[in-house]
Amino acid sequence: MIFPEWNTFNIALYSGLALLSLGMGLGEALGLKMMKYSKFRPSAGWNPRAGMFFLYFLPILAALAFALPYLPTASLAQVIVLTAVLGHFAKRCLEVLFLHKYSGPIDPFTTLAIASFYTLVAGFLSALNRQPLPAPDGLFWLGLFLFVFGESANFVHHKLLADLRRETDGYVIPRGGWFEHVACPHYFFEIIAWIGIALLSRHLFAWIALVGMAGYLIARSHNTLTWYRQKFPDFPKHRKALIPFLL
Ligand SMILES: NC(=O)c1ccc[n+]([C@@H]2O[C@H](COP(=O)([O-])OP(=O)(O)OC[C@H]3O[C@@H](n4cnc5c(N)ncnc54)[C@H](OP(=O)(O)O)[C@@H]3O)[C@@H](O)[C@H]2O)c1
Repeated sequence: MIFPEWNTFNIALYSGLALLSLGMGLGEALGLKMMKYSKFRPSAGWNPRAGMFFLYFLPILAALAFALPYLPTASLAQVIVLTAVLGHFAKRCLEVLFLHKYSGPIDPFTTLAIASFYTLVAGFLSALNRQPLPAPDGLFWLGLFLFVFGESANFVHHKLLADLRRETDGYVIPRGGWFEHVACPHYFFEIIAWIGIALLSRHLFAWIALVGMAGYLIARSHNTLTWYRQKFPDFPKHRKALIPFLL
């Protein structure tokens, strides 16, 4: 793991980031449902496609801006880390534009909060990438594999969700892939992709961001499972929230 220099500024900064990260999952777990979109959306708000595009596009600009100083002389490790970060948010932009079929608005505060968090994550990861691993090691290549695998499986499950909206604008019980076992397989594979990014970057901040995202997605998947069970009395009882047979 690559640690920052532990001066007063960095101790305060990383303590704040760790608290933010823990707070994300805790807020959702306590049922506050702070992120108001999709099944937990408000009755009025912004156009979901525009809002989602905005919150995934801003991080791309931040990552590119922080990469400018090292881009002309970037090493292989730097190129792969930056490509992974940009690739994740570019994939999400394309899915938002061409794949997802939304059924309602997104809350403006939620849009700005997620945009700020993702921009912080992408910008900081890109800035830290000025100091990459000296050379790719075994864990780095494992990270690349997990990233590609996680993003691909995440996409497959997004496609399954989009296909549910062929005949209805509403919600139905998802079928196919890991939806047969859990309510939110797309969240599970997103976590796998971010474990990949953490192994590629290896900076402490990447692990803090991963803990925040994983905590949030675990809690949100549980809220989603509860939502499914309330909305659909015939929702398959064996389905878990995030990890088949476990969680
Ligand atoms: N890294 C992070 O911190 C983080 C945080 C949140 C999400 N994400 C990732 O972002 C991606 C999208 O997440 P999300 O929370 O927006 O997912 P989601 O709530 O499951 O929605 C994804 C899409 O599927 C539709 N959908 C969901 N359930 C449906 C159902 N039962 N029937 C028909 N359509 C359905 C949604 O439509 P509606 O909009 O109409 O509901 C939306 O278009 C995921 O891969 C997730 O991992 C990452």
